[in-house]
Amino acid sequence: MKKLRYFYVLSTTAGVLLMFFTNRYWTNRSEAEEFIRPSPNTTLFNPEHGYSEPKTLSSSYFWSNLHHYYNLVMKEFATSDEETDEENDLFEDPELENRRREWRIHSSPIPLELKHRQYARKKLIHDLCDSNGTLGFNGKWQTIDDIPSWELANLLVDDRHGIIYCYVPKVACTEWKRIMIVLSESLKVNGVPYRDPSDIPVELIHGNSNQYLNRYNRTVMKQKLQQYKKFMFIREPFIRLISAYRDKFQKENQPFYKQYGIPILKRFGKIPNPPASVKEALAAGIAPSFSNFIQYLLSLPADSYELLDEHWRQTAHLCHPCQIHYDFIGKMETMEEDAAHLLRMLRVDNIVQFPKIKSSTTDENWIKTWFPTITADSRRKLFKLFETDYKLFGYQVPEYLLRP
Ligand SMILES: *[C@@H]1O[C@H](CO)[C@@H](O)[C@H](O)[C@H]1NC(C)=O
Ligand SMILES: *[C@@H]1O[C@H](CO)[C@@H](O)[C@H](O)[C@H]1NC(C)=O
Ligand SMILES: *[C@@H]1O[C@H](CO)[C@@H](O)[C@H](O)[C@H]1NC(C)=O
Repeated sequence: MKKLRYFYVLSTTAGVLLMFFTNRYWTNRSEAEEFIRPSPNTTLFNPEHGYSEPKTLSSSYFWSNLHHYYNLVMKEFATSDEETDEENDLFEDPELENRRREWRIHSSPIPLELKHRQYARKKLIHDLCDSNGTLGFNGKWQTIDDIPSWELANLLVDDRHGIIYCYVPKVACTEWKRIMIVLSESLKVNGVPYRDPSDIPVELIHGNSNQYLNRYNRTVMKQKLQQYKKFMFIREPFIRLISAYRDKFQKENQPFYKQYGIPILKRFGKIPNPPASVKEALAAGIAPSFSNFIQYLLSLPADSYELLDEHWRQTAHLCHPCQIHYDFIGKMETMEEDAAHLLRMLRVDNIVQFPKIKSSTTDENWIKTWFPTITADSRRKLFKLFETDYKLFGYQVPEYLLRP
């Protein structure tokens, strides 16, 4: 009887090891196809803007997979022995259960169409960042070392899975921050990390619940940028701007009202003495108009992106796509597909899911609603301000808005 059991365990082990290496081989292949390798010599930070060499398998991934197979064997072993089984039930550790879930294998294929979409987005950025003439903008030829730490403030890190996310406000960043908090286990209640992104109270999401990359020194920052998978999400620039305006000036937001609202009202709204509190202002029907807001943006010195609040600063100046070679460029307009693709690519689709968010089909109507009050001249200047975002991320130039 005993002999039979050992034979069973031995043969399962052998089978499982075979499975493991086969799986590893195929994983390696499919992962490699997700990346573009221009030349073997390009590195992350060289001025030629090559893609980062794909890190197909980290050692931690290797061990977690091995662990997974080990557990499989042990589980088989345990179920063949009733006593151990009972013990297991008694001492089942929910944390261990979670880890087991994480060790599950990711095998769902990624549609070719989505891989091509990523290829096209990355290639466009790569081509524009590399050539003179086509598109010029402030900071284009910087190296990562030229970028001060405060300009890298939007990079969030998950050291557990080796992921970096550059958040762009008004592009579902709250949802992605929730996911980063769960993945990195950076926020805990009574010592237990949040498991479900939607459980995290909204007031804890922005601020220090996440791990910021620029807390590390340069050396470590660059190492992580080189080794980790990096992603960002973008949105049609004018739509993002409208979204920011609605969120910060049409809602009761005292800090924004004080810092931007009052000065804008005084200077462009011809209201010399606006109420001190946003509550009073909104009750009296006083708020900077969209047109006032655009006038304010256009009054700033050209190329002074550092004066722009992150909610309306150009994405290129938040995420530095010419210096940081993102493995994944997502868009708000294709959020559902992109989110599933990304989580699968990062091999965390078994841990987190991206929630369904409101459809953005109404967004196109926003332009029709908000832009008629803006003069053609201002629209053209505004376009200049966001031209880099339009071009780098492949958004169609809104010609119909720019005609006189
Ligand atoms: C890679 O770069 C090194 C150092 O810059 C150089 O010596 C080598 O010839 C290059 N290899 C290829 C394949 O271009
Ligand atoms: C492009 O222009 C910049 C600034 O004039 C220069 O430093 C850089 O070497 C040029 N790059 C190429 C590829 O021509
Ligand atoms: C950067 O931080 C790492 C880890 O904390 C440390 O080992 C290293 O010496 C630091 N490097 C510099 C240049 O300060």
